[in-house]
Amino acid sequence: MIRVVVLLSGRGSNFQAIVEATLPIEIVAVISNRPLAAGLAYAREQGLNAIALDHTAHADRAAFDAQLADEIERHQPDLVVLAGYMRILSPAFIARFEGRLLNIHPSLLPMFPGLKTHERALEEGVKIHGCTVHFVTAQLDHGPIVIQAAVPVRADDTPATLSARVLVQEHRIFPQAIRWFAEDRLRVQQGRVNVRGDSTSQSVLSSGA
Ligand code: GRF
Repeated sequence: MIRVVVLLSGRGSNFQAIVEATLPIEIVAVISNRPLAAGLAYAREQGLNAIALDHTAHADRAAFDAQLADEIERHQPDLVVLAGYMRILSPAFIARFEGRLLNIHPSLLPMFPGLKTHERALEEGVKIHGCTVHFVTAQLDHGPIVIQAAVPVRADDTPATLSARVLVQEHRIFPQAIRWFAEDRLRVQQGRVNVRGDSTSQSVLSSGA
């Protein structure tokens, strides 16, 4: 089984979905930059190795990221998963883990990188919104796309209702992407991800929900 380190900052619902999916992975550590993150408490309840690394106790991003990277390396992961990790990673950090770093983002990238994606989708009046799992590269929210899921935007949607509809899909696609990685089915060529054996195009999921 591949060794996975999970990074998170908050609620941890994506992390919980990963645990509940019973994937062929070993979660060797769960690290949060916020000591009080609910996701870290859940990791402890699951008997996992839960580690708090408070970014406010470090001089700057480079110093924190260097310590974070050292901590991750101690667990010798094959894959590092960003499950709601709400800090921008420095280029030096990304270089150390490139190719084994997956992120979930709550929009159909390359639309709406960054924060407040649901608010911005509503402001723009898009009719379809969704979420993306991608490999992390130095350009924020722009790495090779592994899988996306789309949801309809309804006339009466608020950021909260839209976000809830997207979150259901996040909980489907993140475990799927990790399963493919664990099965060694992902190949990146010229910035595009090929899923070996994905004849039914599972890398595009849609929902009428
Ligand atoms: C999710 O919407 C994820 O896409 C974004 O941050 C949120 C984390 O939620 N990166 P949770 O902590 O997994 O519940």
